[in-house]
Amino acid sequence: MSDLMKGDVLDALSKVIHPEDKKDLVSSGKIKDIVISNNDIQIILNVSSPAHHIKSKIESSISETLKKELSEVGSITVNFQPMVTPIGTTQQKEQILDKVKYTIAVASGKGGVGKSTVAVNLAVALGKLGYKVGLLDADIYGPSIPLMLGINEKPKIYQDTKSAKMLPLENYGIKVMSIGFLLDDNAPVIWRGPMASGAVKQFMTDVKWDELDFLIFDLPPGTGDIQLTLVQTIPLSGSVIVTTPQEVSLIDARKGVKMFERVNVPVFGIVENMSYFIAPDTGKKYDIFGYGGGEKLANESDVNFLGGIPIDPRIREGGDKGVPIVFDLPDSEHSKSILAIAENLVKEAEKLGSGGKPKIEISL
Ligand SMILES: Nc1ncnc2c1ncn2[C@@H]1O[C@H](COP(=O)(O)OP(=O)(O)O)[C@@H](O)[C@H]1O
Ligand SMILES: [Mg+2]
Repeated sequence: MSDLMKGDVLDALSKVIHPEDKKDLVSSGKIKDIVISNNDIQIILNVSSPAHHIKSKIESSISETLKKELSEVGSITVNFQPMVTPIGTTQQKEQILDKVKYTIAVASGKGGVGKSTVAVNLAVALGKLGYKVGLLDADIYGPSIPLMLGINEKPKIYQDTKSAKMLPLENYGIKVMSIGFLLDDNAPVIWRGPMASGAVKQFMTDVKWDELDFLIFDLPPGTGDIQLTLVQTIPLSGSVIVTTPQEVSLIDARKGVKMFERVNVPVFGIVENMSYFIAPDTGKKYDIFGYGGGEKLANESDVNFLGGIPIDPRIREGGDKGVPIVFDLPDSEHSKSILAIAENLVKEAEKLGSGGKPKIEISL
């Protein structure tokens, strides 16, 4: 009996059809390598971690076909080798965040306008509406999500047969990843732009996010090169711009709208934070930072106004003690305003249909 040749195995594998894309394994480039030793065959596939049932379908149809086509075949092993590669080594590509329905960046032109506060409370509000939600802290230089969600642990590592991934941490039903989990307290992040986007890429590819309806990205404040690189790196369905009503904040928020227009990411709407203050004793409304700025910006930019959130010490306290107000005081007017914004956001996102997420293939 003659020894098996790679060509024979390839011929046989060209008869195996991938259950999802319905193409044969050879012509669609899924065969990475074939190792033959004493008629035992090991096949290495260029297929990144498929769902369990897909995996076993592929395995059994390879095994059946090879046994039928090659009578002399010994044992058959199939290995799935995800195409994730260490940053900067090769040009291989992978489809990222394919189990996430909507990816939404929360951005602002200016720091300190409450972007992280809005991102956290929106995430919790979407969770309360029944959606599966993740929050990715992309503010590599000033990660505040761990504190705001009261998470003080290190992520665990999940190892499947081929690759290791970090498991997101969880609180209030939200899955969370932040550079803050990986740094010791007070350790400064001295990374420059390219490293920041590299870290965010890794948070997309090397974290086990699983199925999510919404993955919210808390972006670093500003509209410079770092932010632009990030919004080009992340496959975004859309964005939310946070501003306060005052002119200095609006000028920068306008730049935020422009930045997303430049990269063709829809702006789902404007959120006006610190909109007004309700005096606890009299119930009177005070427009501390002016009135109507967010709505004005939305109108002139032809995007939606998703709503306003009042300024209130309890919102700040909620952030500082790691208990978001939407969770802590669900019946307060403040929480209701945030829930209404979340509902408006869902409506805007759903207008895009099935995710609207561009199929970005990133080179790592
Ligand atoms: N609506 C609000 N009412 C009271 N304090 C707020 C409100 N929004 C944000 N803050 C506080 O303002 C500060 C800056 O908010 P943060 O979310 O960290 O801003 P950013 O992420 O834009 O830098 C935090 O101390 C936060 O608790
Ligand atoms: Mg922040």
